[in-house]
Amino acid sequence: MHDLPLNDMTMIDMTTHLPAPGRWRPVLPATSLTPSAGVVLGFLQGEELALWRAPDGSAQAWENRCPHRGLRFTLGTVVDGRVACGYHGWSFRAGDGRCMAIPAHPQMTVPRSICARTFHAVEAEGMVWVSRAPVAGAPPATGVRTWVRTLGIRASPASVAQTLAGAGWRAAAPDVLAGGEIGGDAAVLLLTQAADGLVLLHAGLVDAPDPACLPQIHAALRRLRGELEAQADLAITGTEGAKQ
Ligand code: FES
Repeated sequence: MHDLPLNDMTMIDMTTHLPAPGRWRPVLPATSLTPSAGVVLGFLQGEELALWRAPDGSAQAWENRCPHRGLRFTLGTVVDGRVACGYHGWSFRAGDGRCMAIPAHPQMTVPRSICARTFHAVEAEGMVWVSRAPVAGAPPATGVRTWVRTLGIRASPASVAQTLAGAGWRAAAPDVLAGGEIGGDAAVLLLTQAADGLVLLHAGLVDAPDPACLPQIHAALRRLRGELEAQADLAITGTEGAKQ
């Protein structure tokens, strides 16, 4: 992995709400997409995604909104290899997201124009990465062998990245922080912006963890979350104090 200047990541890639097409962004560990999990909620730069696994094993990432009346796809189910909306049961196929059946009109040929809004999704090193537009290359290599936990952090991406940089983590690629340790194990952290002031931090270990060490790894992650949120609160308090 090549290092990036931290400011490139925090100021350009992670704080903007503008679409940045054509770049893989980490969304969630691939183990979250199981046949029994159905349609799973994820996020791409603050936008909700509906994620699921197609019958051919490929990860699917869609806008979390049915094109009929807008119900979240995550309230639906996967039936016969398609997503069935939880409201009127329209079903949508993998790949292009085309609607294939409308239960209230079983004889009707569904217009080709009725489709879920789909994104590009790929799995790499156990992580699902999503992009709004085609990407020529693969997601950045992380070197992660085991994803141990995803934490929700009440802070902005810039605040999280800045605090981690102060703790010795380095920006190995956009949204990828490396060079630190969790519970004494070499670790990598991936950042997903879930909403304003909410970041998902995916923690992975470079080596397979000793199961006996997992409690201390989880404890270290809880402490890290506390530190990141405390620093974010401190920054907000400082900003408000400076205004007074
Ligand atoms: S809102 Fe999805 S089928 Fe009607």
